[in-house]
Formats: sequence, structure tokens, C-alpha cells
Amino acid sequence: ATASFTLHPDFAVGEVHPHLFGSFVEHMGRCVYTGIYEPGHPTADEDGLRTDVLELIRELGVTLVRYPGGNFVSGYRWEDGVGPAEERPRRLEQAWRAVETNQFGLSEFMNFTRKTGVDPMMAVNLGTRGVEEARQLVEYSNHPGGTELSELRRTHGDDKPFDIRLWCLGNEMDGPWQIGHKTAEEYGRLAAETAKAMRLVDPDLRLVACGSSHSGMPTFGHWEETVLGHTWEYVDYISCHAYYQEFDGDVDSFLASAVNMEHFIESVVAGSDHVAAKLQSSKKLMISFDEWNVWYQSRQPDEKPEPWSVAPRLIEDNYTVTDAVVVGSLLIALLRHCDRVTAACLAQLVNVIAPIMTEPGGPAWRQSSFYPFADAAKHGRGRVLRVEPTSSTHETAKYGEVDLLHATAVQGEDGTTTVFAVNRSTTDELELAVDVRNLGDVRVLEHRVLADADRHASNTLAEPDRVRPTTREGSAVAEGRLTAVLPPLSWNVLRLG
Ligand code: AHR
Repeated sequence: ATASFTLHPDFAVGEVHPHLFGSFVEHMGRCVYTGIYEPGHPTADEDGLRTDVLELIRELGVTLVRYPGGNFVSGYRWEDGVGPAEERPRRLEQAWRAVETNQFGLSEFMNFTRKTGVDPMMAVNLGTRGVEEARQLVEYSNHPGGTELSELRRTHGDDKPFDIRLWCLGNEMDGPWQIGHKTAEEYGRLAAETAKAMRLVDPDLRLVACGSSHSGMPTFGHWEETVLGHTWEYVDYISCHAYYQEFDGDVDSFLASAVNMEHFIESVVAGSDHVAAKLQSSKKLMISFDEWNVWYQSRQPDEKPEPWSVAPRLIEDNYTVTDAVVVGSLLIALLRHCDRVTAACLAQLVNVIAPIMTEPGGPAWRQSSFYPFADAAKHGRGRVLRVEPTSSTHETAKYGEVDLLHATAVQGEDGTTTVFAVNRSTTDELELAVDVRNLGDVRVLEHRVLADADRHASNTLAEPDRVRPTTREGSAVAEGRLTAVLPPLSWNVLRLG
């Protein structure tokens, strides 16, 4: 099989926003408790944060963390998570039917963001709550002092404002499973009024309206149009969420999941540009793809943790090489749309469908999906160049004829260019040829590959380093032509400079 394309610095999609490499910490399962926070763990610091996990988060290259949910936020009282820990209530957490101890809350999260060097993205509860609680949370978080709520924060030990710029107006409000689920009309009005009130407390906020929970939602399209009709002047982003999995061994469709993601993004862009046209507005709304990943949702029915326990093991998917290649392809899809997707969150960060796993009292390790994310977060900074490939194809049950190659390229400020490429064939090597004459005198600095003879191989507590990237020899540039062989079912990082 073969594939080729041409790179030219004059043909760029746009600049990559650093927030494209965000992730998500929800009060769900063991993401917070025994994930990032475990007082008493041998590596815990003075604040109860696991330093082994903090190190892995830094290595992963995460730039932004969305918090505290997810479905969790739609029943959450933010006041429960501030002030003296011993006075915080234990509550029934109804989204995941667990007991929330509230030992970790806003202040602890902000401390976590400082220690990991990530930007916070805070979600407000628009399920059971509304305008009043959201504007109070902004005042508590961002107002310097001299008012009841800002002084309360100071008495709680946080003298300086948290300065949280990015906010989600609720979570998945289109989903019937959501506590306080709403129609598009109901949500659109509430989101607009909440946004307005939040901005009256702090005008310098960037706000995300809830889009669809996935592109297969029955209300998809209509939801975006209605919500944006109400919120247009108040919001900067509309959200997208998507999770993918392999169904019944149909690996070819699974490996083509990015076809769905790209179509989803392009549809939402078209829909929001349509709203702009109707409103005679020149505004270009951005997409916050603030939940995306591989998630084996069909396996969930078998998982029935004891209800009302603290930090139960929930959706701790163990990712294979195949899953990691799909994660890589989804990152390529986001990069290919970096002109309109300017925030994105891999859901979630630790233990819960996550690139990082931990054992309570024990070690932390990298899942297979850790590697493509870390590669993209490290080398996917700069300008995305247009990649219009000519590629061998194959038939897939879900998406019809699909290119075997899925690729993008990012030109960094240091003069290097990185090609990210996935070979979707499970059987054939892909001979790649790239015309790089217009990149100047470049050579291959590195060809990193994630592939394995066993596509089901994964990292586990017993074997945490079973899957890891390797360096591949033989890729080279000669007479302005890069040639490389991409192994079957592989994630590839070709760095040129
Ligand atoms: O990330 C897990 C869950 O998936 C989130 O709580 C919810 O927003 C989505 O449905």
C-alpha cells in the first residue's frame, strides 16, 4: 500500500492553540481520590497530591484541565468543596451513585493546576442550579477581595484570586441521563442568562456553551442552532463530545473513527457559521472538544460497583495498541481542524478512561494511549500545514471507503516540521512519500513508532511497560522527498529539521 502528499509552508490550516492538549478531571470513580489525590500514599506531598502522578501528568504534556465534571457537575454544590476539610459534608453523588467526601474541592484543584502548570477550565452546574450559584462561584474564584465571597476565599487560605478564565456553562445538557436535563430552548435561555451574570462579575471570561453529547444524538444540529441562537453574543465556544470503541471485532471501522470526528467538527462549524450568517455576525465561534477518547461503553453493563461507596473502580478501561492508534488518529483529526478547534480535553486524566493509571498505595503507570498524546503535545506546537493525501484505501463497514493513511503536519517555531501519521491497515505496511522540497534542506531527525505484533497488547500493573514507542531506522529525505515505511496498525511521528 502507498500514500503520498506535499508539504508547503504557504499552505497552512492555522496555529495550534496550546489548549488543544487539555484533559479532564471529574469527581468520578478514582480520578480524584486515589488518582491525583491520595494522602498517605508514599509519594503524596504535603497537600495529599501523588507526586508520581504529577510527574506523569507533566510528562504527558497536558496544558488545560477541565473540572469537576462531567455528569458530576450537574448535581454539585461548589460550596461543599471549600473551607476547612473536616467541616465539609459527605453527600450522595447521584450521577455515579457514589459517596462524595468533598475532601478535594476548588482550592485543592487550583493547587493541583499550579503544581502541574496547567490552566483550569471550570464547569458550573446548570442541572440543579443556575444563574445565582454560577455568579457566586465566579465572585468567590476571581474577585480580589472586599466582598463576602471573595473574603470567604481569603479566610479559606487563598489570598489571591484564582483567576479562572475558561468556563463551561454546564455539561451535556442535551443528554436525558443528565441531572436537570433540558430542552435546547430551556438550556439556551439559561446558558445566556448565566453567561451574562458571570460576565457582570468578571468581564474577561471565555465561555463554552454545551453542544451535543455526540453526533448521533437525535437533537444534534437543531440543538446547536437553538442554543447558539440564544447565547451567540455571550459565548466563545460550543462544545463537542465523542467516545469511540471497537464493536464486534470491526477493527477497520474503529480505526477510521476520526472520519466521524472530522465530520462532527465540520458539521458544527457549518452550523455555527450558519447562525452567524442569520445574525449577520462576523464572529467565528470556536469548538471546545472537551471530552474525547476511546471508551468501551458497551462493556459497562458488566461493571456494577457497590452503590454509595467512596471512589469505586469505574470505567477503568485498559487500552491496547489498537486503542492507542485510534487516540493518535483522533489527535490528528483535532490538529487538522486547529483553525476552529481551539480547546480539547482527553477524557479523563487518571484511572477513569485515562492515559495514566494508579493502584491505591501502589505505583502509577502509562497506558498505551499515553504515548500518542505525549508525542502530539510535545511536537504538535506551531502551524498545522495542509495535508491532502493520495492514499491506498480499504472498505469499512461504517464509513465506506477510507484512506489507509491519516496524517497531519506541524511546523514548529524552531524550524522543525513533524508529520503525525497513522497506518489504518492491520495487515499491510504503508510506503509513504512526502514532497518536502519547500521545507528547505531538511533531514529525518527521528521516526518514532507505536506498533506491535499483538494489536491487543496493553500495559498493566503487572507489566507496565509492555507497550512503548520504538525508533525506526530507514526513513530518509533524498532530493526533497521523504520516504518512510509505516508498519501495519501504527502511530508514527516523523520529525524533520
Ligand atoms: O467522561 C465520562 C462521562 O462521559 C462524563 O461525565 C460525561 O460528561 C460523559 O457522558
